[in-house]
Amino acid sequence: MITTVVQFAYIIATGLFVFSLHWMKDPKTARRGVFAGVTAMAVAILSTMLEPGIVNWEWIAVAIAFGFIVGIPLSLVPLTAVPQRTALSHSFGGLAAGLVGTAKYYLWLNEGPENLSSFRMIAIIAEIILGFLTFTGSLLAAGKLQEIKWIPQRPVTYRFQNFINIGLLAVAVILGILLIINPVEYEFLFPVIIFLAALFGVLLIIPIGGADMPTVISLLNSYAGLSAVAMGFVLDNKLLVTAGALDGSSGLILSIIMCRAMNRSFTNVLFGAFGQVQKAKAGVEQRSAKTETFEGAAQILEQANKVVIVPGYGMAVAQAQYRIRELYDLLTKLGVDVKFAIHPVAGRMPGHMNVLLAEAKIPYEQLVEMDDINPDMPQVDVVIVVGANDVVNPAARTDKGSPIYGMPIIDADKAKMCFAIKRSMNPGFAGIENELYYSDHTFMLFGDAKDVIGKLVAELKNL
Ligand code: TAP
Repeated sequence: MITTVVQFAYIIATGLFVFSLHWMKDPKTARRGVFAGVTAMAVAILSTMLEPGIVNWEWIAVAIAFGFIVGIPLSLVPLTAVPQRTALSHSFGGLAAGLVGTAKYYLWLNEGPENLSSFRMIAIIAEIILGFLTFTGSLLAAGKLQEIKWIPQRPVTYRFQNFINIGLLAVAVILGILLIINPVEYEFLFPVIIFLAALFGVLLIIPIGGADMPTVISLLNSYAGLSAVAMGFVLDNKLLVTAGALDGSSGLILSIIMCRAMNRSFTNVLFGAFGQVQKAKAGVEQRSAKTETFEGAAQILEQANKVVIVPGYGMAVAQAQYRIRELYDLLTKLGVDVKFAIHPVAGRMPGHMNVLLAEAKIPYEQLVEMDDINPDMPQVDVVIVVGANDVVNPAARTDKGSPIYGMPIIDADKAKMCFAIKRSMNPGFAGIENELYYSDHTFMLFGDAKDVIGKLVAELKNL
């Protein structure tokens, strides 16, 4: 009876997981998607506790308490820190899968080698390799994104790097095959495989940096999902298999979408060492960008017919979205047509800008995707770039030597006039200069995005 109830609950949880992903496709239903996902997870955990095999509750209670202690502070991180928070969650998932695989191997070994069938051993080996490489890789990725001082942020490359990495993984897989063939005699290989997988995770992330990091995070998401699938086979739990498969495939699809948005190939992301800071070219003269006063900028905005705001990572850092809402309201009242141009990889995670603008209740219809707004850019009177840099860098179109060459951008340089809001002339995430700031019709408004927009709003109110 209980088994039937549990299996039924698993079907409900699987359905909710699928709907959760479906609803998260659209901002209007995304909140419902989150609730469905949380409910599915709650159903999954509670129904698993009813399994007849579970007789001892103490350690489960300790694990739940520990999960709350770690999980609650993690849920409170600012939106800008979500990529590293996500990487940390993946590393916990990978570690859990790796530890379950390890425990199961030694338990079954002690209970009698007849328990270690080839099928179970294949699942265990897949679980520990994927689990431990996800654990160390995600931990390092989180450290890089958090800009921890002693972890090099930029890609670290050396000769024969790919050869060494692939060779290491191949050795781990070969040792795994030996262990599958003879799980008792080659017991000593088990910790060696764990060590190699953990080392591979570190070496996999070392050559990646800069703008490729968020893509790698979603790839690690798919590895974590695959390790959960293997764990599902080890524990004979169908829900883990389906939920892991959903997690693995959605991570992979997201990585592909992000690669497309940046015009990067998968292999390039994994092995290309993108994101190295370009050294200043010798002999290049020091140029200076033009600036505009807040009063002057407000007067120009008042006269404009069409204004496009391009938000970027700096808007998220400054939390300028509420001030932007005020600016939007004021300009709209003055009869100015204001739109928001959304680049698919602006900020540090997919949908970053959409979430922030929705938070400030900016009407969703005013948000226009890059491909739809670019043809209109030559008719735009003023484009206001708020803390965006790489996503409006014309080098992506013109400079074959640039690391962002080929990445689609928002054509801010084609508008009649551009106001660029940032604190300095420092480069963006990819570490490269931006020609837009030196263009004839670009005027810098230096300062924190929230302060600058606040001053523009104040000037507009005074006019
Ligand atoms: P970035 O190129 O990172 O530029 C952000 C700019 O904001 C910086 O130039 C910085 O200049 C400015 N800034 C920072 N804090 C500010 C503040 N408080 N007030 C005003 N300005 C501030 O951002 P982007 O244009 O949004 O591009 C995103 C980058 O991330 C791209 O390279 C993209 O490929 C990469 N990436 C994103 C994703 C996703 S999914 N979003 C995925 C993969 C890669 P100052 O320091 O001078 O102020």
